[in-house]
Amino acid sequence: MTEYAVSVEGLNYNYGKLNAVNSISFNIKKGQIFSFLGPNGAGKTTTINLLITLVPIQKGKVTIAGFDVATQKDEVRKSIGVVFQDQRLDRDLTVWETLDFHGRIYSIPKEIRYPRIEELLELVELTEKRNVYTKNLSGGMKRRLEIARGLLVQPKVLFLDEPTIGLDTQTRKRIWSYIKKVNREGVTVFLTTHYMDEADQNSDIICIIDKGKIIANGTPENLKKSLAQDYIHLQTDDDAKTIQLIKDLPDVRQIRNSSKGLIIHLKEGGHLITKLIDLLRTEGVEIVSIALVEPTLDDVFIHYTGRGFGDVSHENNGFTHS
Ligand SMILES: Nc1ncnc2c1ncn2[C@@H]1O[C@H](COP(=O)(O)OP(=O)(O)O)[C@@H](O)[C@H]1O
Ligand SMILES: [Mg+2]
Repeated sequence: MTEYAVSVEGLNYNYGKLNAVNSISFNIKKGQIFSFLGPNGAGKTTTINLLITLVPIQKGKVTIAGFDVATQKDEVRKSIGVVFQDQRLDRDLTVWETLDFHGRIYSIPKEIRYPRIEELLELVELTEKRNVYTKNLSGGMKRRLEIARGLLVQPKVLFLDEPTIGLDTQTRKRIWSYIKKVNREGVTVFLTTHYMDEADQNSDIICIIDKGKIIANGTPENLKKSLAQDYIHLQTDDDAKTIQLIKDLPDVRQIRNSSKGLIIHLKEGGHLITKLIDLLRTEGVEIVSIALVEPTLDDVFIHYTGRGFGDVSHENNGFTHS
């Protein structure tokens, strides 16, 4: 028996000439919430589809709950629950029928299936919606139903591909609270997301993928600490002039724009804040606010890829700065 819930070694996948997953390796310990974080097109869905036996392995080795994905498909499938990126609910079934139908596909006997359905409806707070057709549910309720369905088989590992995509902030928080509840009951969670802040707040381990390659892997704290550098958030009445004044200072590594003003990356051990205040005052630039901040996951991404969120997200919702 392996100690890992998920083990991936040298996994590689090409769509024709396009290399979507580039020799990735990682392990997930039992009981962890593991977030696979990356911009659109990074290779997240392809990876998840390989892990859940939906797409055949071309190269590399994957085991789920100790079973080999290439040679023990049935055992793997019995060990996992899946929530897909795109919604896959039958519009003409009610909430209860959706779960019952799924349970019958997996040959779960009535005596186990019925009470289990009640339990899951409670878990995702859909008991009162049991007789509502899925087409009449809100986006968040549909997601909750899909999570309940993914849990019906009592999986060892629950896979969720972008579980919170397109949902409002309130609903996303609720989805996360269900994911955590499920995790507390002992289910290992593998999820993909392009929302950095969510991954940061909720994961035990974050693995950042970009262009098919893993660029960082660790706890949110360690990923940020590993940068060993600080940042200055600066708002002024004249950003253009400010950039001209400070861009060649020896402690400055990089300056970028964000919705909250300028973000100045300091070189390791750099000190600038008092110098900066003096300089801008002398030059007549008014400082609206200035703060020394610790690195965020954005900064981790920029550090390892050399480019910012503006270049990687076309949706403006993921890798934006908070
Ligand atoms: N069925 C497919 N055929 C060809 N290329 C694909 C297919 N699915 C995804 N891709 C490409 O593979 C890369 C990774 O896609 P995907 O795994 O969906 O990324 P993500 O889920 O991180 O957005 C992208 O460049 C995408 O355009
Ligand atoms: Mg995807």
